[in-house]
Amino acid sequence: MKDSDGKMIVVSNAEPYKHEEDEKGELACKEVEGGLTTAMNPQMRQSGGIWIAYGRGSHDFEVTDSRGKVSVPDFPDVSEKDQYELKRLNFSDTQYEKFYRGYSNRILWPICHSFPTKADLRKEREYWGKGYLPSNKEYARAVIKSYEPGDTIWIHDYHLALVPKLVRNEIPEAKIGVFWHIPWPPWENFGKIPHRNKLLEGLAAADLIGLHLEKYADNLLRCADKIDANVDRGSSRFKLAGEQTQVGAYPLGVDYDFFNGSTTGNQEEKIREKYNSDHIILGVDRQDYTKGIPERIRSFEKFVRKNPDYREKVTMVQRTPLSRTGIEEYQKEKSDINHKVSEFNGKYGSHDWTPINLFWGGVPQKELIAEYRAADIGLVTPGLDGMNLVAKEFIAANEEPKVLILSEFAGSSEQLDEAIQVNPYNTNEVANAIKTAIEMPEEEKKSRWRKLRKKVKKEDLQDWAENFIGDLEGAHQLHSMVNYTTPRKTRQTGG
Ligand code: G6P
Repeated sequence: MKDSDGKMIVVSNAEPYKHEEDEKGELACKEVEGGLTTAMNPQMRQSGGIWIAYGRGSHDFEVTDSRGKVSVPDFPDVSEKDQYELKRLNFSDTQYEKFYRGYSNRILWPICHSFPTKADLRKEREYWGKGYLPSNKEYARAVIKSYEPGDTIWIHDYHLALVPKLVRNEIPEAKIGVFWHIPWPPWENFGKIPHRNKLLEGLAAADLIGLHLEKYADNLLRCADKIDANVDRGSSRFKLAGEQTQVGAYPLGVDYDFFNGSTTGNQEEKIREKYNSDHIILGVDRQDYTKGIPERIRSFEKFVRKNPDYREKVTMVQRTPLSRTGIEEYQKEKSDINHKVSEFNGKYGSHDWTPINLFWGGVPQKELIAEYRAADIGLVTPGLDGMNLVAKEFIAANEEPKVLILSEFAGSSEQLDEAIQVNPYNTNEVANAIKTAIEMPEEEKKSRWRKLRKKVKKEDLQDWAENFIGDLEGAHQLHSMVNYTTPRKTRQTGG
């Protein structure tokens, strides 16, 4: 992924590492969970460069220098050459509240995931003026400060839609790529956002906007068309407010070699011993109402109810790292899940069998790989997910044939058609799929698994990054020829 001329500048809200106290009360560097950081971290460790993000760890600023920078990961076994620079930003609590909890996660996240009723549109203007716009300006300032000619600026996700334009205003010749990690919704949802034009104008200043799937790219072009941008469907480009950009689909992959090749000692056997069950079903999701966890529990309950012979023989493990804990919807969902699981375990469990083992919180990647290997069935049933890397990690981590049950609303379902695909809201269908997965003949299991692994290996993280960066290079050259051969006036984003 290394750019030939300059360094890579990655910009995102989530940081890849945070500094917090560990169980012994000592200051420790910890990986941050989430699709975006999982994707970009291996890239950065390989190519180096600088990553600009908000510092969310409780001790983050105790380890940074006077410019907010720290080399990461600062694990004892990682040498300097495998580290890169992380620049941490810090906003006031009120600003961050309105930017992160407000605009990003109570407007854009629900709208993009087609849960418009969870969007707090009454507060859109306030979140915008006091959070989203000023924070995007701070990100842009940090990018501009770090920039040197020849650098590649790679902006990630919905928190930072205005950064391309804010940077372009100051550095007209910059090479700017955006990757949007969540779905781009149909116009009927996106169009509800009062600042929809400003969001699209902000993005239009990037050379290239990448999304996971063609259908998201189509939705974006349709939204641009609706607000009277000049859209060329043939070349997937649009012009808006003096800027022009290209839109494309780049399905994100995982670091196959890492998940496939990591050694875990005999951890997976220990996990199997712990559950002492013939069949382990595993769900791994960051806690979010888009992930379909309550529906999954209901489906498992149906399976247990309908198949008494399997009681005590099948165990579900649900691992759920917490995030956005300050947002009401997330708190409510967490307590609903806790309630449902304890009710369920109370009703069906016995001295020797806990049907659902629920864990709030993540584990380091090597332990997660052991959990993937200990499981027989991966149960990945989000209500809607841009891609879902857990499905791909589960496949990459397991050489032994397993079965994957996958929501047809996870972006990865477009590639992974040998998984058992289900409608996560049809709990009967998911319950039946669990039974089918358990009883799948060995030959069929092997054949499906072989095909799934081949795809995940071929369309891996490296492939994704190379395709995106290659196209960004091309889009930038084209953009430069058209746009920057004559000086232009500086424009402002805002309003
Ligand atoms: C998704 C988003 C990322 C985000 C991650 C974790 O994967 O696409 O941008 O970082 O969730 O969410 P959080 O709010 O904890 O950063």
